[in-house]
Amino acid sequence: MADYTIKVRRFQPESGEGPYWEEFNVDLDPSLAVLDGLLQAKDRDDGSLAVRCSCRAAICGSCGMKINGQSGLGCKTQIGEAQELANKKASVAGERTENAPIVIEPMGNMPVIKDLITDMESTHWTKIRRVTPWLLPHGEPPEREYVVEPESMIDITQSMACIQCGACVSSCLSMEADPDFIGPAALAKAYRFVGDPRDAETHERLHDLAEDPHGIYDCTHCFSCIDACPKGVAPMDQIMRLRRKAGEEGIEDPNAGHAHEVAFVKIIEKKGTLDEAMLVQESYAPGIKGKLKPSKRGLTETIKSLPTILRPLRKRKVKLRQAIPGTHHKLPGDAMDDVKAIYAHAEEHGEELNLYIRGEEGEDAQPDGAAAEEVPND
Ligand code: SF4
Ligand code: SF4
Ligand code: FES
Repeated sequence: MADYTIKVRRFQPESGEGPYWEEFNVDLDPSLAVLDGLLQAKDRDDGSLAVRCSCRAAICGSCGMKINGQSGLGCKTQIGEAQELANKKASVAGERTENAPIVIEPMGNMPVIKDLITDMESTHWTKIRRVTPWLLPHGEPPEREYVVEPESMIDITQSMACIQCGACVSSCLSMEADPDFIGPAALAKAYRFVGDPRDAETHERLHDLAEDPHGIYDCTHCFSCIDACPKGVAPMDQIMRLRRKAGEEGIEDPNAGHAHEVAFVKIIEKKGTLDEAMLVQESYAPGIKGKLKPSKRGLTETIKSLPTILRPLRKRKVKLRQAIPGTHHKLPGDAMDDVKAIYAHAEEHGEELNLYIRGEEGEDAQPDGAAAEEVPND
């Protein structure tokens, strides 16, 4: 047993007062969860302390909260580990390094109903419904179940592991700036159906998510949702898969992200390193060596990027030669051979394996830790 201080951000709407902090002392084995600490405080000190929970085993998704500023599950975060992090943070802030209070807050990006209970309906569930979270197959349903190859479902197992806890939504930086952003949980759910071979509306779904200004291109690639997710869903990776699929379907990306990605790959294949001066041209008007293809978008984007090119030139951070597309040097022979070998290997092993599957080539694939023993929640 060890003693801990938990510092809880409380809000009791019936009091008419604003939010406030309250500390509770609890004694628990370090291997028990932060949620156990909260329940002990509720039991011993204040029965009005509101926290939502059910399974206490990281399955139901009820106990999302912020612990020491990090979104996650109260029942999956050991109080001993939370104490270590609290001490580390306090020490970085120049405060005490032992027994620092473990700070517990309700999830972010959602209205708070009471204490640690947030309104999941107005943000999380509304956004989940926004992506049509069910199969849309064409034709008459089969007499029995739809039969698909097990391999064809591998790609979506990761998004199927979501337990709808909202931790990713709570931590999403884009959603802080744009509350209308569809968000990591809903977009991970969208990939679950976009990647499902039984669904017949893939193209329509991708168009919808790409054309929505709060859709797949609203994500800033900050990795926060990956850190927060307790089930290894890695929502940002699912969003990147949606973007890639949209690119493959020829859907125009307002940020030219897919074209940019292709341009990176092409330039490095050719030169061995990145010739940044070629990026705009290759991203917006690829295909004609050394000259811009006269596409309207290519010209507009080149004109738009001129200040970005001229600024470092004016400050002499970049030499004129470096700003001229195509003048960047190639790597010497041997090094280029290595680059070519990498590309050849990538080409041969081009199939993207979902990161949820681990293992070396030739081994039987194993599902990743968190959900290894569990059946996905979907
Ligand atoms: S990676 Fe994208 S979806 Fe995930 S938290 Fe960052 S902005 Fe949000
Ligand atoms: S993606 Fe992960 S963090 Fe987000 S709701 Fe699902 S399980 Fe929770
Ligand atoms: S109580 Fe079910 S996930 Fe925490």
